[in-house]
Amino acid sequence: MTTPILEVKGLTKRFSIQKGWFQKNSYVHAVNGIDLAVRKGETLGIVGESGCGKSTLGRCILRLLTPTSGETIFQGKNIRSLSKPELKAMRRDMQMVFQNPFDTLNPKLMIQQILSEPLIAHGIPKKDRQTLLEETIEIVGLGKQHLLRYPHEFSGGQRQRIGIARALMLRPKLIIADEPVSALDVSIQSQILNLLQDLQEQFELTYIFISHDLSVVRHISDRVAVMYLGEVVEFGDKKELFASPLHPYTQALLSATPVSDPDEKRARIILQGDLPSPSNPPGGCKFHPRCPSCFDMCKKVSPTLQDVNEQLVACHLYG
Ligand SMILES: Nc1ncnc2c1ncn2[C@@H]1O[C@H](COP(=O)(O)OP(=O)(O)O)[C@@H](O)[C@H]1O
Ligand SMILES: [Mg+2]
Repeated sequence: MTTPILEVKGLTKRFSIQKGWFQKNSYVHAVNGIDLAVRKGETLGIVGESGCGKSTLGRCILRLLTPTSGETIFQGKNIRSLSKPELKAMRRDMQMVFQNPFDTLNPKLMIQQILSEPLIAHGIPKKDRQTLLEETIEIVGLGKQHLLRYPHEFSGGQRQRIGIARALMLRPKLIIADEPVSALDVSIQSQILNLLQDLQEQFELTYIFISHDLSVVRHISDRVAVMYLGEVVEFGDKKELFASPLHPYTQALLSATPVSDPDEKRARIILQGDLPSPSNPPGGCKFHPRCPSCFDMCKKVSPTLQDVNEQLVACHLYG
């Protein structure tokens, strides 16, 4: 395997929650010791229920949040060891696309101003900016005339195209897309997913694609990491993972998504209870209170990821 473009080692993020003057602070364990290696040019899907720590992981990788501990190595460089100017240079190569671009597009600015911001911040000369603006707005399927409009003049799908254009302005190497189609109608979702795939080919992009929606992740990813309460519980090639999910949590998630192939029969597994609070996670395997296959050891010992048929799975059922 070639060297990964991005490696994450033991990434952990705890948020402290203040309780009151005389009470001890408690912590939300949003992300807990995650290891990942992302290959150049691939799409790594990250899937899991809302609240399992996907966005926090994405933000820690981009250093929009400072992790509590752990390392991020991007293009061979440990981000922690970078000086301020080096960190700024690295930011050019890593960009984020958000779920709801309307929240992140300043309503008072014209699209051309919004898209120029990253160019100005990174010192791109004025003479090159207009060309980049016109080129990029067309690449995402809009036209030059749209540059002089305001965010409210666009539909949800068009706004996401603008969000993607903004992420592309500096021609990054890695894009972290956090629920980029979750706020869109299904018909628009596939247009945006196709656009992301075309752009990946054209610009040799690497994606980390975050979603709670397994069918969207299935459509776009090469490999998939399944998260539960801040941890990766299963990781593998998309084909194998969807054909033979090993972790009971992945099996349950998969059983709840609609099947397109009528020959593909599976029984729906209904999980007991809700996702426990990350401020008070259960001991042993964090999934054990909801697991249909739970046995004694699961309540006491936390399983680690191990290789089973070239998939990684953290579950005592596999030894
Ligand atoms: N700034 C914050 N302060 C305290 N808790 C937070 C903060 N951001 C996220 N959390 C908590 O961390 C957990 C993971 O959140 P998040 O990463 O947004 O999950 P996801 O993206 O998978 O829905 C949740 O329990 C959430 O409430
Ligand atoms: Mg999120």
